[in-house]
Amino acid sequence: MTHSLKLGLQASAIVFASVLSTGCNRADDPGLEYAPEMYYPIPYEPLKQMNTNTVNPMGLNERTPVVGTVPLGKLNYYSHIPKDSVGIAERTLKNPAPYTKENLQEGQTLYTRNCQHCHGEQGDGQGPVAAKFKGVPSYSAGAYKNMNDGHIYHVIQWGKGRMMPHGSQVAPDERWRIAMYVRMLQQGKGPEGMADFLKARGQDSGLSSESTDGQNQAPVQEAQADKESVTPGQGGVEARNGTNLSSETAKPQN
Ligand code: HEC
Repeated sequence: MTHSLKLGLQASAIVFASVLSTGCNRADDPGLEYAPEMYYPIPYEPLKQMNTNTVNPMGLNERTPVVGTVPLGKLNYYSHIPKDSVGIAERTLKNPAPYTKENLQEGQTLYTRNCQHCHGEQGDGQGPVAAKFKGVPSYSAGAYKNMNDGHIYHVIQWGKGRMMPHGSQVAPDERWRIAMYVRMLQQGKGPEGMADFLKARGQDSGLSSESTDGQNQAPVQEAQADKESVTPGQGGVEARNGTNLSSETAKPQN
């Protein structure tokens, strides 16, 4: 390479670098903008705020929700039941979703994805992971048989003992559907127990609508007590169709 060519290359590299640096170092200067109103919103935008808001606290466009309100789809998400207070959950939380075939099947899908590898298809604690990760209980054994929806919901959200929390993996309405499915597995019949379970629920919901015993409140009644859309006394899967009240539309229960 000749000397002059080398010099020329060096010079052009310097020129190029300086063009680059002047062009790219000015992140705060957007240069000439065409129709800036397209980029900078004139109405208040929570996620793209250009100027201090003179009306709201702390100059923010976005405001915190009114105390006591629940955003759509976040039912029970903000339930402030402490991690170690499963008893409170057991007594106060109610499953806002009705025991329908659809909800139960959705619960099954979610259970298969999130729980089955430990708790087993039958809910007997014999999932493939449980072979290594010891201590997974059977839902149909001893006291586990009597866990109600609120209890299971709380355990899903916060975990218990050796079980890690699953609150970040499953949304509140999904937790309620999984809880429903775990209730079914408590029968000890595995997924095959679904028809029996629904049938029993249909009969139960017709028997009584109120429970006076707070401690031992049977979740059967908890889940059904305020569901006017469920037709009492009509057992069987068909009779329950059309009661697919989603948790979003259900009234807050606490
Ligand atoms: C990594 C394995 C694992 C996964 C995944 C898992 N669990 Fe568990 N689960 C356990 C273990 C272990 C225990 C026993 C905890 C203890 O008593 O120390 C347990 C206990 C429970 C209990 C009984 C809690 C109590 O009050 O004693 C419930 C209910 C439960 N799990 C539900 C679920 C549900 C629902 C899911 C899915 C969303 C799930 N688990 C996912 C391992 C798991």
